[in-house]
Amino acid sequence: MIKTVEWTREGVRMLDQRLLPNEEKYLTLRSYEEVADAIKQMVVRGAPAIGVSAAMGLALGASQSVGTSIADLEFDFNFMCKVMEATRPTAVNLFWAVERMRGVIAKAKQEGVRDVEDIKQRLTEEALLIYNEDIEANRAIGMFGGKLIPDGATVLTHCNAGALATAGDYGTALGVVRGAIDAGKRVAVIADETRPFLQGARLTAWELAKDNIPVTVITDNMAGHIMKQGKIDCVVVGADRIAANGDAANKIGTYMVAVLAQQHHIPFYVAAPLSTVDLSTATGDDIPIEQRDAKEVTHVREHQLTPDGVEVHNFAFDVTPNELIAAIITDRGVARPPYTESLRTLSAVLSAHAS
Ligand code: MRU
Repeated sequence: MIKTVEWTREGVRMLDQRLLPNEEKYLTLRSYEEVADAIKQMVVRGAPAIGVSAAMGLALGASQSVGTSIADLEFDFNFMCKVMEATRPTAVNLFWAVERMRGVIAKAKQEGVRDVEDIKQRLTEEALLIYNEDIEANRAIGMFGGKLIPDGATVLTHCNAGALATAGDYGTALGVVRGAIDAGKRVAVIADETRPFLQGARLTAWELAKDNIPVTVITDNMAGHIMKQGKIDCVVVGADRIAANGDAANKIGTYMVAVLAQQHHIPFYVAAPLSTVDLSTATGDDIPIEQRDAKEVTHVREHQLTPDGVEVHNFAFDVTPNELIAAIITDRGVARPPYTESLRTLSAVLSAHAS
């Protein structure tokens, strides 16, 4: 199993995704600041993996807090939450995980817990719970989504929504592929390379090849041509935030793929755990879109591509409108349009389950 992120005695251990596929190097991050920086620099990336990492970073930070009272711990913890929340604005799993961790302190206070060490222990347990739940959620997405994939299908993916983008193991969009394969189907993947960070070429290709799942990499601008040739049976992508109406933010370029899929009558599926569904965000227009360092566009690693001083845009995500999405595959079942109703129903099942 790929260990994207792991809780160890020494700190939070992460596979440095910036170096893949050339180097498989693990970093041990020994403070919450180091974890926040790793999220920002994309050592770890992918909405669910960001959420899990943030939770572990907060547990680590809390464990190192030197205050002796609960008020001291809470003061430090609130500051750490702000640092964590400032790392990447689009992936809602980050804010969801921070909220879960905040809830631990609130609950302990409500229960009258007075021992600071007890609260620190509870924070660690919550981070591990979030980690384990993510692995389980991806298995469930694979089970539900695998049923939508025909035997012999070729699936187009964008970015990396695999084990590397989650706590490990299955992934979301690639979880659907793995779920179909585990159900006995033959499935091949065509992976968009995904400029500028090349998550498809570097990460999706790496993890699928490792699992002996057939994968072919294309440049992003080949997708239309290949769809027109009838080579794609369905598109499956992940999401960073899904609004209440089903509009889905995902890696830049996803919207283009969805428009092309509609033109060629190819089903376009979004696979994500319910922790990626943000019912408090009404539509995709309300989703904050991260803009990253221009150097990701102007350079490939240290090699400069564009002339000095030329302006570039580097939007990290775009929003696919719900009308282009055939279904949203979650860990609680498959949501179909109208999403305002189906997502609310699935989320209510989750809340009932949690309470
Ligand atoms: O910028 P990234 O690499 O964090 O973007 C990741 C994506 O867009 C993924 O498709 C999304 O987070 C879903 S991951 C299961």
